[in-house]
Amino acid sequence: MEAILLVGGQGTRLRPLTISTPKPLLPTAGVAFLAHQLARAREAGVTRIIFATSYRAEMFEAAFGHRAQGVDLAYVSEREPLGTGGAIRNAATALASGPDDPVLILNGDILSGHDVPAQVELHQRSNAAATLHLTTVDDPSRFGVVPTDADGRVTGFMEKAARPVTDQINAGCYVFRRSEIDAIPLGEVVSVERETFPTLISSGATVMGYVESAYWLDVGTPEAFVRGSCDLVLGRIASPAMPGEPGDRLILPGAVVSDGAVVREGTTVGRGAEIEAGATVLGSVLQDGAFIAEGATVRDSVLGRGARVGPGAVLDGVILGDGASVGPGNELRDGLRLWPGISLPPTAVRFSADD
Ligand code: GTP
Repeated sequence: MEAILLVGGQGTRLRPLTISTPKPLLPTAGVAFLAHQLARAREAGVTRIIFATSYRAEMFEAAFGHRAQGVDLAYVSEREPLGTGGAIRNAATALASGPDDPVLILNGDILSGHDVPAQVELHQRSNAAATLHLTTVDDPSRFGVVPTDADGRVTGFMEKAARPVTDQINAGCYVFRRSEIDAIPLGEVVSVERETFPTLISSGATVMGYVESAYWLDVGTPEAFVRGSCDLVLGRIASPAMPGEPGDRLILPGAVVSDGAVVREGTTVGRGAEIEAGATVLGSVLQDGAFIAEGATVRDSVLGRGARVGPGAVLDGVILGDGASVGPGNELRDGLRLWPGISLPPTAVRFSADD
């Protein structure tokens, strides 16, 4: 089976990490986020993937070439972003599948443990135009919802509402009959969620909902990105692309972690990164060459390449861009982001390792 992988978005919610690296290529549990998706797609029977690129398009081919994780890869780029539907149509020009064949569509920022072969099987059995993976959430009022009838057919796409009619939401993994993709206008901006699916439903086509509430995470926000990386390290979701066995932490080759440092809760320590004695690092992602000094505490945070945290500083829910540096004694919390190369001077109160 062939798949199209949507990876053209700018990842604005993950800035400044996505200024230099597109979201799907951000190091996640030791490898590019997409490596996990490619490996899982291969396990699900996908043999060839077309990348639908736009933002920083050239970086994807440079990262993966024409074969990775046992899957053949091809690249189709949009000069201007065409939205999800336009991107799928554009990428379809490189498909080899026949008109009735199922084609899998994956969002490049979703970590999902659902049973893709079961989704494809439902699609084929129902002779559907398209079949969406739907997952259930505790608080559906934060999402648009997707109701289905007793036979599992999708009956509509509903905008966010205070009292939604269902707790099922679009989980961002679709199976399309190839000919339905070809029916999307070529070269136009189209949203598959707002235009293609509602049009198919109102025209009477069979659009099925495959409901499965396996592990599912959209890693588009900083909090979710850190959680996804830690969940992979901890083994809460299995990935054949993980370097090493699941555990409390992932230390990549060339990293130096002092015996006197506490590093836990799924933290990844990148190549050449260093953590000094007396530092505590919990549930975080340290990219290559990051540095955490003695007595610092870092929790639920991402440190970009070569970012530095000074002695006794505290970071909680923070993103440091590449090469950013936090001087001794500072406390940064709750979604604060430091842009690449920015340096915060030390606080006036001098930190001493004996404090
Ligand atoms: P934000 O800017 O933070 O919302 O992130 P994003 O740009 O990734 O947007 P969003 O999370 O809504 O996108 C969902 C998926 O579709 C991601 O995998 C994007 O890479 C992809 N995507 C969104 N828009 C386009 C587009 O116009 N072209 C292509 N090729 N992919 C897109």
